[in-house]
Amino acid sequence: MTNRADGFLLAIESSCDETAAAVIDRRLTVLSNVVSSQHELHQQFGGVVPEIASRAHVRRIIPAIDEALSTAGVRLDQLTAVAVTTRPGLVGSLLVGLTAAKTLSLCLEIPLVDVNHVEAHLFACRMAAGREVFPAVGLVVSGGHTLLYDCVSATDFQLLGSTIDDAAGEAFDKGAKLLGLGYPGGPAIQRAAVDGDAKAVRFPRPLLDSPGLDFSFSGLKTALLYEINGSSHSRSVVRELPRERILDLAASYQEAIVDVLAAKCRRALTRTGRTALCVGGGVAANAHLRERLTAVAAELSVELILAEPALCTDNAAMAAMAWELIDQQLFAPLDIDVTPGLLRPKR
Ligand code: KG4
Ligand code: ZN
Repeated sequence: MTNRADGFLLAIESSCDETAAAVIDRRLTVLSNVVSSQHELHQQFGGVVPEIASRAHVRRIIPAIDEALSTAGVRLDQLTAVAVTTRPGLVGSLLVGLTAAKTLSLCLEIPLVDVNHVEAHLFACRMAAGREVFPAVGLVVSGGHTLLYDCVSATDFQLLGSTIDDAAGEAFDKGAKLLGLGYPGGPAIQRAAVDGDAKAVRFPRPLLDSPGLDFSFSGLKTALLYEINGSSHSRSVVRELPRERILDLAASYQEAIVDVLAAKCRRALTRTGRTALCVGGGVAANAHLRERLTAVAAELSVELILAEPALCTDNAAMAAMAWELIDQQLFAPLDIDVTPGLLRPKR
């Protein structure tokens, strides 16, 4: 196998509902970043339907790779390696990306590098900074995950805490669905919250008073449902609300999520003594969360490194963390499988 020192990395990401391909050079310059979002396919269901997602990936993966290469002006024979998300994610969706990456690795005789998607979300902070950012506390807040890490290095992430039920993004998506605001819920709630009163309703701040670094968001959506339905105990929305009330509920709901995330980041920073906080994942695009974390960082005199908004939601460019693995000769065998959960398969 060739292992050229310089060159270009082709990265492929298909862990959820974005079909993405990117070309990144060794200095982490993003030469192309193609993201084909499937939001329109899942919108009517208020969440991602795994079977629909995998079928769409099959149709879109090769056009996405073609576009990434042509936009970057890079030929297949110029690639140093191919990186692909193998975990965590939807099993059928991951398989599409991995199969494409294995095929390229085999045919081009270039190394295959397997990338952990949540770690890549944090590597987006390294890319935003343009220099080393670890060690740091890392918060990954996405549709599928809410995780706090002690990031010892770009390839050594120690889990400090995680959600015991819904992820923060899932709470946004489910909340938006209850409020009739559409999918994806995070941007919809953020927009509605601008004109709402965040103090209108005091939603619970789950696990805030317990000493750990875990999160819980599922009770929040139930609390929202009760606010919408009043005394009715129906499990679905039975009342139509005035627009003003919807905006107030959106702002108050967002406030509760942001409060909990900010408080746990503060706790993780205090406990670990780290002097930097990295935040990535779709929810890291939330303007209110970004503001609040800026205040926390200032208060604790730590550096805050937020992923660029364009690299918060799913993309392949952040799989540029594969360069770190290439440096350590950590390549994946061609018989590697996908891992839907977070566990790292043995290399
Ligand atoms: O990282 P991501 O694209 O996919 C996963 O790996 O899950 O995150 C998607 C999640 C969705 O739940 C979406 O509602 C949320 O990120 N999101 C936001 C915002 N933009 C996307 N949540 C809050 N505010 C936003 N501006
Ligand atoms: Zn993600």
